[in-house]
Formats: sequence, C-alpha cells, structure tokens
Amino acid sequence: MLVRPKGTKDMLPEEAYKWQYIERVAKETAAAYAFKEIRTPVFEYTELFSRGVGDTSDIVNKEMYTFLDKGNRSITLRPEGTAGVARAFLENGLAGGAMPFKAYYLISAFRYERPQAGRLREFHQFGAELYGAEGAYADAEVISLADAFLKNLGLKKVALKINSIGCKTCRAKYHEALKNYFAPHLNVMCADCKVRFEKNPMRILDCKEEGCKRFTSNAPKMLDYLCDDCKDHFETVKSLLTASKVEYEIDPAIVRGLDYYSRTVFEFVTSAAGAQGTVLGGGRYDTLLSDIGGKDVPAVGFAAGMERLLMVMEAENAPFENEKTADCYLLGMDEGSREKAFALAGELRKAGVSAETDLMTRSVKAQFKYADKAGARFVAVLGEAELNEGAAEVKDMKNSSSEKVKFEELAQYLLSRR
Ligand code: HAM
Repeated sequence: MLVRPKGTKDMLPEEAYKWQYIERVAKETAAAYAFKEIRTPVFEYTELFSRGVGDTSDIVNKEMYTFLDKGNRSITLRPEGTAGVARAFLENGLAGGAMPFKAYYLISAFRYERPQAGRLREFHQFGAELYGAEGAYADAEVISLADAFLKNLGLKKVALKINSIGCKTCRAKYHEALKNYFAPHLNVMCADCKVRFEKNPMRILDCKEEGCKRFTSNAPKMLDYLCDDCKDHFETVKSLLTASKVEYEIDPAIVRGLDYYSRTVFEFVTSAAGAQGTVLGGGRYDTLLSDIGGKDVPAVGFAAGMERLLMVMEAENAPFENEKTADCYLLGMDEGSREKAFALAGELRKAGVSAETDLMTRSVKAQFKYADKAGARFVAVLGEAELNEGAAEVKDMKNSSSEKVKFEELAQYLLSRR
C-alpha cells in the first residue's frame, strides 16, 4: 500500500471542523485589526529565500525543498510565508498604495526537518505582516493581534516572551562580545556553531546541542548592547503592551531562527503538557525588503503553526465550536418516498437548510443508524402514508419527540428550530 511521505499528515473530514474553527478565528481576528488576506505562490525562485530568510539560518542551509524545474530554474517550496509576501508587495508596487500595508495569510509551508510531535515537513501557518511603519506602535499592534488571536481561541497556558536583537549597528558590537565570550570554548562546540561563530555568532544562542547549550546561559545579552534608538524603541513597545493589557516576559534567549530580524523579536510559548514549545513567533525585519532588491520598507509580522495550535488546544481542552452536521436527514421508506426524499433534500438546501438523504438504498433501520451516527438534528420520515398526506413525520433526534410537518412548511420548521 502506498503511504504518505514522512513528515506529512492527512487532515481527515472528522477533524476538519477543528481546522476550520482555528481558521475562522484567525480570519475574524485579522479582520478586527483590518488586515486583509494575501495569497502568494507555494513555490518561489530559490534566491528569494537564500537572500531573504538568510544563508546562516538552518532553514536555508539544511531544510529547503529545492529542485530544478524543467526549464533548469532553481525552485523552492516556501519554508515560510514572509519572504513571499515581501516579494509580492514589491513586485506589485503596493508601496504606492495606502500605508501601512497590512496582510494576513493561511498557508502550507515546507521544511526538511526531523519529524516529531508538532514538527512536520509540511505544516501550516497563520501569519500576518505589517509594512511601512517604523515606530514601536506597529510592533505593539502586531503582537496585540497575535495575543488576541490566541486568546480568542481560548488558550490560557501560552506566555509571550519578547526581546530586542537591536539594529545592524549595535549588533556588530554585540557580535564582537559574543565572539570574545565563545572563543575559548569553540574547540568543544559543534561543527555548526563553529560556522555560526564566523558568520552569525548570535545563532549559537539558538543551538540545541547539549555541548553548546551549557555555555549559552552566561553569554553576553543583546539587551546590554542596544544603542539609544533601539533601547527607546524597545521601551515604547513594552509600555504599549502594558497599556493594552498584553502580558509579557523579557527573555534574552529569544533570537529567532531566521536571519531577517532586527529590534523586536517575540514568541508565544506553551506550558501545556504534550504540546510542542513555540506556537507563534515573529518580529521586526526592517532590512528584508531591501535585501531582496526593493527599497527600504520597515516591516514587522508573525506566524503561528496550525498543527501546534491544534495540539495546544487539545492539551488545554480549549473549546472548539461544534462540528456542523446536517439539519435534517430525509428518510424514504420505499422506492417512491425515496425519490421524494431526494427531491425534498434539494428544496431544503435551496432554503438554506443542510440536508442529507439515502444514497445507498439502505433499509429503514440502517438509515436511522446512519442519521444518528452522522449527527443529523432531525430525521424526516417519508412513507406511502406521508406521500398521500403531503407531510413528513419529523423526529427530533435530541428528545425523540416527533410531529407531522407539511412538505412545503418543512424548511421553515427546520430553520426555526436551529
Ligand atoms: P518560525 O518561527 O520559523 O517563523 O515559524 C513560525 C511558527 O510556525 C512556529 O512558531 C511553529 O509554530 C510553526 N512551525 C515552524 N516550523 C514548523 C514545523 N516544521 N512543523 C510544524 N510547525 C512549525 C516564521 O516562519 C516567520 N516567517 C514568522 C514571521 C512572520 N516573522 C515575521 N513575519
């Protein structure tokens, strides 16, 4: 039997309502902040990610699904959504439109990672990006949107951690300090960290190897190296979050796994048992648009992992909206009433009632069993007598009571009992 590729998942019809619920909350929260949807291609030219996400990140170095197409062009399945949105913004001249530009997306993304619970090779993100505003209000707005989204999902055990990783100027001094600190330990650190030491020493702080992690807790902290502008920016972000009642902790260990960030970075981390660490991450990235060939446009955004959100919601017993089932199952007892049931189902649907009927020529008993299993709210029974009377016997599946309802009044009857 053929099986799905490693690191992928099937989303089956019986759990679809959970996904749809998370997506609906995402769309409604984005709309409350006046973010509009953007859709960009699933694949892009590889250069977008190597220049955008950055060649010192694990994503670009190890995890991209890259291939040559039949025209010999290097193509990559998007490992994240931000670079594609930035490219689309520039390519479509959106900088000339209303600013700030605010967009959200619901996408699949691809990373060749070692699969485990909450870590997949194809996964899904809800993300939001805001362009054109360099002040701290934009950072606070985006963090507040992320916070509202998680609260609207009913999550309680998720904590916001924020940090500032400064700008190019102050980070240069910080990199020097990190190099001085790590240099004496370098010979016992992993091969990746030896490369990180040369290319981007801050990335060492994100290393998962035990041998390297033991040195990171005492490493110099970026917050001690911020220039005055970056310090002011961070202070304003914090006071805006406090003013809008968004709780946060400062965590100097948050450096993020992508190269494009500057100043504010943040993650929402779960403490619910069985769920995987970070459910949402983001930050400011003021140089990405110029790095991919555009003009300087300040930017800030985030993305949440849908599979992880689902896990956290289940672990926290957060309420999903109920699964939508048919309002009415139309049960035909014999050949003639079966046809009437089929026709009536069409009438009900036109009137906005969700209806099901038998498609497998089942017995009355088997049809009742199916209707019950499928969760139909009402079952309208039609036999010879009902056809003669022009009325169905409508059974309320919640309390087993039943009453006769004329065919032409059936839609109204069901709608009024929703
Ligand atoms: P990221 O931290 O790489 O950031 O991913 C965001 C979220 O996607 C993570 O917090 C996690 O929930 C989920 N995620 C990442 N990788 C996987 C995986 N292999 N399996 C399952 N879930 C995963 C970004 O992608 C940035 N583009 C966020 C951003 C937007 N920054 C600014 N704007």
